[in-house]
Amino acid sequence: MLEIKQLRDYMKANFNAWDGAKSDQEMKLPQPSLIKPPEGGFMIELPDPKGIVTNEKNLFEIIVDRKSIRKYSDDSISLLELSYLLYTTQGVKHVDKNNRRTYRTVPSGGARHPFVTYLSIQKVDGIDKGVYRYHPLTHQLEFLFYDEDYVNKVTDATLGQSFVIKCPVTFIWSCIPYRGEWRYHVSAHKTMLLDAGHLCQNLYISSEGIDCGTCAIAAYDQKLIDEFLKLDGEDEFVVYLAPVGKKIKK
Ligand SMILES: Cc1cc2nc3c(=O)[nH]c(=O)nc-3n(C[C@H](O)[C@H](O)[C@H](O)COP(=O)(O)O)c2cc1C
Repeated sequence: MLEIKQLRDYMKANFNAWDGAKSDQEMKLPQPSLIKPPEGGFMIELPDPKGIVTNEKNLFEIIVDRKSIRKYSDDSISLLELSYLLYTTQGVKHVDKNNRRTYRTVPSGGARHPFVTYLSIQKVDGIDKGVYRYHPLTHQLEFLFYDEDYVNKVTDATLGQSFVIKCPVTFIWSCIPYRGEWRYHVSAHKTMLLDAGHLCQNLYISSEGIDCGTCAIAAYDQKLIDEFLKLDGEDEFVVYLAPVGKKIKK
């Protein structure tokens, strides 16, 4: 059996460890698509996130007050609030002139942006319950499916973390590793996991500004959540989750 210390290498910078191998970008292979194409589901236009009215807190207060919130009020969140949370975590500000990079509200090594945002929606005003996917280039939500038991399935996939049951919406981020590997070969793996932290930190910060709370979840069952979202678990798989809800007023 491998010792735990032998499994640490992927955490280290390994730009010299390709043993002479070239990345697919260096081999002049075409770049993978900037976004995952729609699956043909019903599309919902999201309101302009600029319309959001945040609370009175300044940035310092927001950062100091941020904490993981695992209890939510019974309130729903509005479509504008959801739009704002999606934009602040993955929104595209512009695409470069060659259509090769997106520049978003979070940084990403080499502007690879390897993530896809799925939402398990229970209580968002004006949106039916179910599972959706965010399209960051057009700022739209695509309806994927509804399944009677979907909330229990997401909860089971988080190893029974019960606060998932009550939240209005759970963000589920998958990764498409080839978007990073195409450019950085095996070094992309560390970079992409670092990137995931940026998404979730922005979710914490932007939630705090609208009296919502969230809690990062990395303790989950890989197979259950990938099967739930119908991901193949190899070219795309879940890396992180975060339920969001309104804070309980003191
Ligand atoms: C990468 C990561 C994974 C986490 N996974 C879980 C989780 O699965 N379940 C949970 O309840 N909290 C999880 N948390 C939240 C941490 O427990 C929390 O951030 C920590 O206790 C510090 O508390 P604070 O966020 O309120 O400062 C996770 C946090 C991070 C950053």
